[in-house]
Amino acid sequence: METHSKASRLSRRQLLLSGGALALSTLAPRLSYAAPHRILRAAPHTAQILPSDWPATPTWAYDGQNPGPALRVKQGERLRILLQNDLDQPTTVHWHGLRIPHAMDGVPDVTQAPVQPGDQFLYDFTVPDAGTYWYHPHVNSSEQVGRGLHGALIVEETNPPKVDRDLVWVLDDWRLDRDGSIRDDFQRGMDISHGGRSGNFVTVNGRTPEPLQVRKNERIRLRLINVANARIFGLNFENHDAHVIAIDGQPVTPHTPGYDTVLLAPGQRADVILDFTGEAGSSHRIIDAAYQDEASLLQNIVYDTGVPVRETAPGPVPTLAPNPLAEPDLDNAEHHEIIISGGAMGAMQGAVYKGKYLPIAELVQDMRIWALNGVAAHTTAMAPMLNFALGKSHIITVKNETVFPHPMHLHGHTFRVLSQDDAPVPHTPWADTVLLNGRGTAKIALVADNPGDWLFHCHVLAHVQGGMTSVMRVA
Ligand code: C2O
Ligand code: CU
Repeated sequence: METHSKASRLSRRQLLLSGGALALSTLAPRLSYAAPHRILRAAPHTAQILPSDWPATPTWAYDGQNPGPALRVKQGERLRILLQNDLDQPTTVHWHGLRIPHAMDGVPDVTQAPVQPGDQFLYDFTVPDAGTYWYHPHVNSSEQVGRGLHGALIVEETNPPKVDRDLVWVLDDWRLDRDGSIRDDFQRGMDISHGGRSGNFVTVNGRTPEPLQVRKNERIRLRLINVANARIFGLNFENHDAHVIAIDGQPVTPHTPGYDTVLLAPGQRADVILDFTGEAGSSHRIIDAAYQDEASLLQNIVYDTGVPVRETAPGPVPTLAPNPLAEPDLDNAEHHEIIISGGAMGAMQGAVYKGKYLPIAELVQDMRIWALNGVAAHTTAMAPMLNFALGKSHIITVKNETVFPHPMHLHGHTFRVLSQDDAPVPHTPWADTVLLNGRGTAKIALVADNPGDWLFHCHVLAHVQGGMTSVMRVA
């Protein structure tokens, strides 16, 4: 019944839209007007997040799905998505990791006005890079993402590597009460000032993780996306090599990660090739071991007892074709520095907030206790922290002077991760999010080739609430 009413509502809108397109073409026959590929409706929903014998969870969702629908497009294709806001608060959609024009980036008060309840906004852009991306709101993100607004965006290669299955795992955690409801504590100071708002229930694709059923000699491309507000995942596939072929959507030299653990901080993605060469009928664990003291079983890999997919193990691990990214010129790059300070147990004395310097005791009252280069943000519409000359190469050293890890995310660009904690990073991967260790450093490099004011912020969403946002101007 519910499904039916949703479907009819959708088609009514589509009719309205095509009616509009008709009228427009009559008036201006040469104007090229393209109807949206789809409507993405953000609205309250109810989902079975906990196991089926537990109560359902009131969530917020795109198109009545937690996670939102996995959008699939081909590299170079144009995507037109009409956001319909049926929440009771403003929202936007940010296309995390996509190098698209500024006006389509979904940042409130910077790239667009927030979309008010009942209103719509048409996102219309061409996707330049193949890979695994995701989308989520950029207004009141901690609560909107935390209540379930997020989805995968898969950009298919022109010639994708041959695999038996291409799976997407949206990794998340939820802070739930026993009645299934999401705890209403998005303003909790303890989360903002410490490690962020972690949940107490981990899900894969919005539900209790279920065993991964495989057949002998099967090859799977697993696209991992960490959409959690704060939790870092570290997946170890017992007795299996996880060959990482892409990081944050971007191809990387295939390799098995350190400690055989695919580490994913909030916002990060990895594409992994898994060859299931174990014994038919056997079972193995997938362990989440991001936090040393609390390794836990995510789920099991269970081999079918029947005939193998093929007689022998799949061949060499494929290398993905590179995306059209400009290679930074490290010898002639401009150098910049970003200092992260604040948080509990930090040494920050104060920061500039709303244009004036405040001592930490006053910042705490507004729960703005994180700063980037001495500024605690209260809005996204802020003066740029750094200026990048358009078309030039830039090297940025990010120094984390706090004791907490921070996955730092840059909009509109993809950068190379050159080094971490002064050690070169193998394969200098492209990324849009880099995880800073507590008191750690990272050196990243990019060509500033996309004009506009771009956010650089922590993807621990409670830290954003606490001021950890800045703007880079490319002009
Ligand atoms: Cu996925 Cu500005 O964030
Ligand atoms: Cu942070």
